Amino acid sequence: MQDKAFIIAIDGPAASGKGTLARNLAAHYGFHHLDTGLTYRAVAKALIDQGLPLDDEGIATSAAQKLDLKGLDRTVLSAHEIGEAASKVAVMQNVRRALVEAQRKFADTLPGTVLDGRDIGTVVCPDAPVKLYITASAEVRAERRYQEMRAKNADADYNEVLDDLKRRDERDMNREASPLKPAHDAHLIDTSKMSIEAAFLEAKTLIDTALRS
Ligand code: C5P
Repeated sequence: MQDKAFIIAIDGPAASGKGTLARNLAAHYGFHHLDTGLTYRAVAKALIDQGLPLDDEGIATSAAQKLDLKGLDRTVLSAHEIGEAASKVAVMQNVRRALVEAQRKFADTLPGTVLDGRDIGTVVCPDAPVKLYITASAEVRAERRYQEMRAKNADADYNEVLDDLKRRDERDMNREASPLKPAHDAHLIDTSKMSIEAAFLEAKTLIDTALRS
C-alpha cells in the first residue's frame, strides 16, 4: 500500500504555461491539483471586497488563516488586477506561513499531487521527487496573457500587460520572503518556442522515470 503522496512541484513566473502543464499532468496521472497562486489571490480578493488595506500584515494574515482551499473559484480569481494585488500580499512572511501550511497539507493527499506556484520546489515541498521550473520570455508571456484577455473581451493593451508582468516578476523575484527562483535540483523547461504538448511530453518523461525509481 502506498503511504506517501507522489508530489510534482512546478514553479515559474506568471503566464509561463505552468498552470496548463500542471492541470494536464494532474489529469494524466489522476493526481490532485492545487494552483497555489489562487490562494494568494483569494486573500487579496477578500481584503479588497471588505475594503481593507493590502499592506497590513496582521489583517492579511488573519484572512489567510481563514482561507478554505475548497472554496477557491478560478473564474472569479483569475482577473488580471487580482494577480497584481496578490503579489502585494505575497511579500508578507506571516501570510505566506499560513498559506504554506495549508498547501503542505494538500500536498500530502494520496495518491499524488501537482502544486504550481513560485516557491513549491524551494519552500513548500523541497523533498518533492519531481521539480519543474517553467519559463518563457516576458514578451511571449505578455502576448499569451494579452490573447487570453482579448478572448474574454476584457480591455487589454499589450504594452500595459507587458509592463504589469515585468513589475510582478520584479516583485516576485526580489522579495525577501521565498523569492521566485528555481530549486537547485529543478528541471528547467523554456516554453517560449515550445507547444503545450511538447512541454507536457518533456515533463512526462521525467515523471515516469521518477515514478519507476
Ligand atoms: O500564479 P498567479 O499569477 O496566480 O500568482 C499570483 C501572485 O501570487 C504571484 O504574482 C505571486 O506574487 C504570488 N504567489 C506566490 N507564491 C506562490 C504562488 C503565487 O508568492 N506559490
